[in-house]
Amino acid sequence: MTSQRIKSPEAERPSDDEIVIREGSRNDFPDIIALDAGIAGISRPEFWHEFQEHRAATNTLIILVARRSGKIVGYAMGEVRAWPVRGPACGWIYAIGVEKENRQRRAASALMTELIERFRAQGVGTIRTMIDVDDHLLMSFLRSLGMTAGPFVELEMSIAQ
Ligand SMILES: CC(C)(COP(=O)(O)OP(=O)(O)OC[C@H]1O[C@@H](n2cnc3c(N)ncnc32)[C@H](O)[C@@H]1OP(=O)(O)O)[C@@H](O)C(=O)NCCC(=O)NCCS
Repeated sequence: MTSQRIKSPEAERPSDDEIVIREGSRNDFPDIIALDAGIAGISRPEFWHEFQEHRAATNTLIILVARRSGKIVGYAMGEVRAWPVRGPACGWIYAIGVEKENRQRRAASALMTELIERFRAQGVGTIRTMIDVDDHLLMSFLRSLGMTAGPFVELEMSIAQ
């Protein structure tokens, strides 16, 4: 006879301190927007609403939230697409952020693990992102994941008159 460990309902429930990653729901958007304003230092509801509409219209965009003690403390957004460079589609990371009070608890790492799983499930083999060259914190985090400089470089010039 094989013995089986039966988990109690309590064992299935995350502890108060645990970071739990979930798909961001429509109802989560006000909290995501407020959290993002605190992290990015700028309120950008149109940015999030545009992506909310885009997600509803496609099956490629992923918006994840990290919850701790029932509160949203982090978010990550990404999408599988070939744009804007040649080559096969890859998983683009569009945004990632964690509330200051909840940093260095591996919330962002958990968000990325889930995002990467979902990118893989869509058949891509590479992830890519663009960051501000002076953003040392984000750079340290992305390097900790194993990300390195890619084969493309962004060019720009002012056309203001
Ligand atoms: C970058 C950020 C997402 C990291 O979130 P986090 O939950 O604290 O990250 P994790 O706890 O998963 O850290 C994983 C690794 O990242 C690196 N890292 C995280 N915070 C770091 C810090 N303050 N200094 C140096 N390295 C750091 C470390 O290598 C760390 O691994 P370790 O714990 O073994 O040292 C978070 O600091 C943040 O939100 N920064 C602002 C980003 C932003 O502006 N987003 C909005 C626009 S996209």
